[in-house]
Amino acid sequence: MRKKNIIVVGLQWGDEGKGKIVDLLAKNADIVARYQGGNNAGHTVVCGDLSLVFRLVPSGILNEDKICILGNGVVIDPSVLFQELKELSTVGINIKNRFFISYKSHIIMPYHKRLDTARERLRGAGMIGTTGRGIGPAYEDKVARLGIRAVDLLNRDVLYNKIVLSLKEKNYLFKNVLGEDVFNPDDLIEEYLNYGKKIKEFLIDASIYINEKLEQGLNVMLEGAQGTFLDVDHGTYPYVTSSNTVGGSSLAGVGLGPTKIDEVIGITKAYTTRVGEGYFPTELKGDDGKNIRDKGEEFGSVTGRPRRCGWFDVNLIKEAGRLNGITGMVVTKLDVLSGLPKIKICTGYMLNGSVINHLPFSSSDYEKAVPLYEETEGWSGDISQIKDFKDLPVNAQKYILRIEELTGLKINMLSIGKERMQIINLKNIF
Ligand code: GDP
Ligand code: IMO
Ligand code: MG
Repeated sequence: MRKKNIIVVGLQWGDEGKGKIVDLLAKNADIVARYQGGNNAGHTVVCGDLSLVFRLVPSGILNEDKICILGNGVVIDPSVLFQELKELSTVGINIKNRFFISYKSHIIMPYHKRLDTARERLRGAGMIGTTGRGIGPAYEDKVARLGIRAVDLLNRDVLYNKIVLSLKEKNYLFKNVLGEDVFNPDDLIEEYLNYGKKIKEFLIDASIYINEKLEQGLNVMLEGAQGTFLDVDHGTYPYVTSSNTVGGSSLAGVGLGPTKIDEVIGITKAYTTRVGEGYFPTELKGDDGKNIRDKGEEFGSVTGRPRRCGWFDVNLIKEAGRLNGITGMVVTKLDVLSGLPKIKICTGYMLNGSVINHLPFSSSDYEKAVPLYEETEGWSGDISQIKDFKDLPVNAQKYILRIEELTGLKINMLSIGKERMQIINLKNIF
């Protein structure tokens, strides 16, 4: 029987613990590939004394013999990439012949970053709360056919002409609308040609490579960044990122056909968090939110911003289950809820006198929808070393079974700490 190919995707607003789970599951995958996003992502992997936050490199890289790939759907800031590769080399991780980049991936340029932050300033109170890493403007250029692809860094004339073209409108905007300094292509060209010299050895056609390896009997795990409700189509628009984060987009993001996928594993926290602005129905604004934030160390791994915290939301997870075609879930950070006397689960929202079981369609209804909760008894004690589901406090077991029942989705694994091995396996994924 051939090995399974799987997609791992965040079911909430990002930071669900994808990095930890991808690192753990990578022992069963020959190839781990990122398919979208860029260094707006921060995927934490803790393995013994080693704690690393991956922005670009796939979270499987610590598994020494595994192949890691950045697909065509990823946007790459070369300065961040090479810094990350340097850190890996410092901790003794050898990436030779097992780290590759699609030649079709797009490059984040300094003008993308300046646009990102200047636009946020212009929006004022309506700001998105982006990571400021130039992600949105880089994807805009890709769609506007003004983008610079990784392969363009290899040719001076191509690169120079593309930078000139891309800056025509942007310099007008910087000068006349945003009140920012303009860019001179001559100031950028040498630095980016240098990146080209360094990136060359990693460039491949990721689609050909992955498909060939699958033919040879190897398997792939596609690692999502961000989360379902940050998806530019399906998320809480406009408070979203600029790529499709859902599982369906993973195939286009590496050049693989849909018939190759066996499982879609969704990662969700045992509660909910969000960083940046936008709709969050179950947010806890007072001390309860602060307690979860402090206990769960809920501070952004990229920007350090405090994450907003709230109760588990069944509507969101059911919707994410549908949008991604989820075949199983991993519930992370269950340990963080230990010690709370009562825990709430949001089972639906009341909107204009009716109960709805999905997110409101219009953002104008967001603030009108009132979450409906059921309350369960909490549990106490340290659960972070438990290995078997039956050894969890009874109320923790009940909480998990209730989540399965309400969402209609099977849970494969529970995560009860940061460390790679702090998991309770319920049903094998591979
Ligand atoms: P990602 O973006 O989805 O990879 O998630 P992040 O790495 O941004 O954020 C998840 C945070 O929670 C990281 O600091 C992880 O080390 C941590 N973490 C992951 N799983 C668990 C868990 O089960 N329990 C606890 N306490 N921390 C966890
Ligand atoms: P990982 O992969 C959490 C959020 C930002 C902002 C919005 C748009 O670690 O889960 P962008 O810079 O992408 O234009 O910002 O998306 N955001 C994330 N939130 N985790 C992430 O990635 C995120 N990547 C972007 O906070 O609200
Ligand atoms: Mg993160």
